[in-house]
Parts: sequence; structure tokens; C-alpha cells
Amino acid sequence: MIPTAALTAYQFLLKYPKRKLSKGQSVFINGASGGVGTFAVQIARQIVGESGKVVGCCSAKNADLVRRLGADEVVDYKSVNLVEHLTQNYSNDRFDMILDAHGNWDLYHASPHFMKKDGDFSAVAFEEPSKGGRSALSGFSCLLSALFLPTWLGGTPRRLTMSVTKVVPEDLHAIGGMIERKEMVPILDSVWKFNDEDIKRAYEKIISGHAAGKVVISIRE
Ligand SMILES: NC(=O)c1ccc[n+]([C@@H]2O[C@H](COP(=O)([O-])OP(=O)(O)OC[C@H]3O[C@@H](n4cnc5c(N)ncnc54)[C@H](OP(=O)(O)O)[C@@H]3O)[C@@H](O)[C@H]2O)c1
Repeated sequence: MIPTAALTAYQFLLKYPKRKLSKGQSVFINGASGGVGTFAVQIARQIVGESGKVVGCCSAKNADLVRRLGADEVVDYKSVNLVEHLTQNYSNDRFDMILDAHGNWDLYHASPHFMKKDGDFSAVAFEEPSKGGRSALSGFSCLLSALFLPTWLGGTPRRLTMSVTKVVPEDLHAIGGMIERKEMVPILDSVWKFNDEDIKRAYEKIISGHAAGKVVISIRE
């Protein structure tokens, strides 16, 4: 349950962005209660320290979990318009980094209102039509404009980081160390048995996009 989600959070916060997250900075994590998000909140807290700020976004039912993992503030995407909320509340105190583990093009395009000029938008995920996102064609056009549209033609003037998670032994050692030192705990949404019915239900839970932490299938009793 740990390697892919934790590696993703670690690499998209600390390795891929041009300006890596560091002490005293502020970070916004979209999809903060999911598999990647629960690790990202904890890693971000460790890195920015008490002088920094971690703000997470998930639904209200998972807000306490995200606060327990280290977020200073949690935004419930169901009760506010996320872009408007961030614009109203963080335009005077902009984020150094945004990690998007849910996938929201509007968040990227509006990011100049609430992310610093030299900040990094670290895109782990992209909008999926099955999860209420725009159509594949419209998403593709957002991707092209984010990558290639110059700012003088209306392109978003913020750095977009995209990549894939890679298995890097030194990153796995760093994550193992954080867990051993109890700086980070893996969050378990649910554990399922290794049979047809349970595997189907575990899969449904995963693709729902609303697991709190990781979904585990236990191979041995
Ligand atoms: N680039 C890569 O190499 C890489 C690697 C690993 C994963 N990924 C991708 O990263 C994504 C995240 O994976 P995951 O395992 O963390 O997913 P997940 O466990 O399904 O988590 C989804 C998170 O998104 C939140 N969420 C749902 N709807 C939202 C909305 N409208 N606005 C904001 N947040 C919303 C959920 O909160 P609530 O449950 O409270 O609603 C939850 O915190 C997936 O799309 C996955 O494919 C990419």
C-alpha cells in the first residue's frame, strides 16, 4: 500500500518541481485525503515545518483526518467553489506550491490568483470524465494550452510540472526512514479479502475516487 502513493507524493513535492518545497513555504494539496494526498500532507508538513503552511482540500467527512495528518486548514470542495474560495482567501498570502492529486484544470488556470509567480503547480492527476471532470477532448485541449500557449496569447503564467512516478531506491529509503521515525503513517481506508466478491468491492472503492487513504487486499489471512 505504501510505495506508489508515497513515492508519488514525495517525488511531486520534492523532486519534480523546479523549486522544491522547503522550510517556511506554503503548499495547497488538492485531493488531500486520498492515497497520494494523505502522504503528501504529511511530507509537506515535515518539510515546511511549523513556520510554513499546509492547506488541504477534500470533502467535510475527511477534514479531521487531513487536519490530524498536519494540515493547518482544510477546504471542503463540496461546500465552496474552490477557485473562488482560494482567490478570496489566499490572494494576499499566495502558495509556493500546489499539488493536485484530484485533477482540476480550473485550479491550474486560476492559480496566478493564489500561487506566487515563481510557484510550481505539480499535477499528479488530470480531470477524468468519470469523476465529474470535463470531456477527454476538452481536457486534452486544456493540456495543450497549458503546455504550449504563450502567456501573451492567454496562456497561464505559472509553471506546470507533469511526470510519472518512478521507482527510485533512494526515494524509497527516504520514505522508509520517515515511517520508521514515525514522521509519517500510512492511512488505511479498508482491508479486503482475496476473493472475487471482495476484490470487486475493493476495486469499486478505489475507482470511486473517495477512499480515505489506501485500499488493501490481503493475500494472506
Ligand atoms: N502521475 C503519476 O505518476 C501518478 C501516480 C500515482 C497516482 N496518480 C493519479 O493520482 C490521482 C490520485 O490518486 P489517489 O490514489 O490519491 O486517488 P484517491 O485515493 O481516489 O483520492 C482522491 C482524492 O480526491 C478527493 N476528491 C474527490 N473529488 C474531488 C473534487 N471534486 N475536488 C477536490 N478533491 C476531490 C477525495 O476526497 P473525498 O474522498 O473527501 O471526496 C480524495 O481525497 C489518480 O488520478 C491517480 O491516477 C498519478
